[in-house]
Amino acid sequence: MNDAGAVVARRAPAARASPALLRLDNVSRHFGKLQAVQDVSFAMNEGELRAVIGPNGAGKTTFFNLITGFVPPTSGDIWFDGKNIRDRSVVYRVHKGIVRTFQITEVFPDLSVSENVRVGVETAAGLNGRPWLPRHVRGDVERRVDELLDIVGLANKANRTVGELAHGDQRVVEIALALTMNPRLLLLDEPTAGMGDTETDHMVDLVRRLHDERGLSILFIEHDMSIVFGIAQKITVLDQGRVLAEGSAADISANEQVRAAYLGEAQ
Ligand SMILES: Nc1ncnc2c1ncn2[C@@H]1O[C@H](COP(=O)(O)OP(=O)(O)O)[C@@H](O)[C@H]1O
Ligand SMILES: [Mg+2]
Repeated sequence: MNDAGAVVARRAPAARASPALLRLDNVSRHFGKLQAVQDVSFAMNEGELRAVIGPNGAGKTTFFNLITGFVPPTSGDIWFDGKNIRDRSVVYRVHKGIVRTFQITEVFPDLSVSENVRVGVETAAGLNGRPWLPRHVRGDVERRVDELLDIVGLANKANRTVGELAHGDQRVVEIALALTMNPRLLLLDEPTAGMGDTETDHMVDLVRRLHDERGLSILFIEHDMSIVFGIAQKITVLDQGRVLAEGSAADISANEQVRAAYLGEAQ
């Protein structure tokens, strides 16, 4: 990584060869007697914008933890870009491009927006902890920080302390931090949780733009059906750890089992 340009370069587009970017084959995860995820099979292609829905406790976050490596499966296999990653570490998966945000905001509250993003860019480039950086490398880092702030729409708040921002903006900073890691698959766990209408609209617009304009593959967990039906190309419904249904917004909204298990509950 001596080439300063490559240090903060965007990830090159992947080869077209592999059929699925992410695949889970009959994955289960038990916690003692509790079957949090049961025999789940799932496949997602590069460039898709997909949603996971389901009642509280359905296993959605555990599903993300299995994909990202935070918990190992009890059984089953997990494939990413044609490789079986079921025994791989979180760090390995992040390097391969599996990057997540959490249900609860995770940022550096005492740093400014641009400092937060700079820490992310430097970490992703392996530059962290260096006492000083050559000027050309520093310039690359600053350009990448500016680019990411532009992408997420936070350039006008670059110098604000993150802990003092509104909740919605803090969650956007979190997405900027995720983007510093050059994701090939971005996993968002309830990105609009706790947001008002304006903040929600902003987040939905950001997710849509990351997909439409940048071709990012995105899988998100979301409670708000209008958001899910509005932007997801395909929806997977989890219920009691199992896949209850999968399909388009039209398929899912017409599915009787889904209505009984979930949509009815929300009305
Ligand atoms: N680390 C854990 N240890 C024990 N039980 C867990 C753990 N993580 C999740 N669970 C349980 O697994 C079930 C599914 O949880 P979760 O995946 O968080 O659901 P969701 O995100 O759909 O609300 C819940 O009953 C939850 O209490
Ligand atoms: Mg959850």
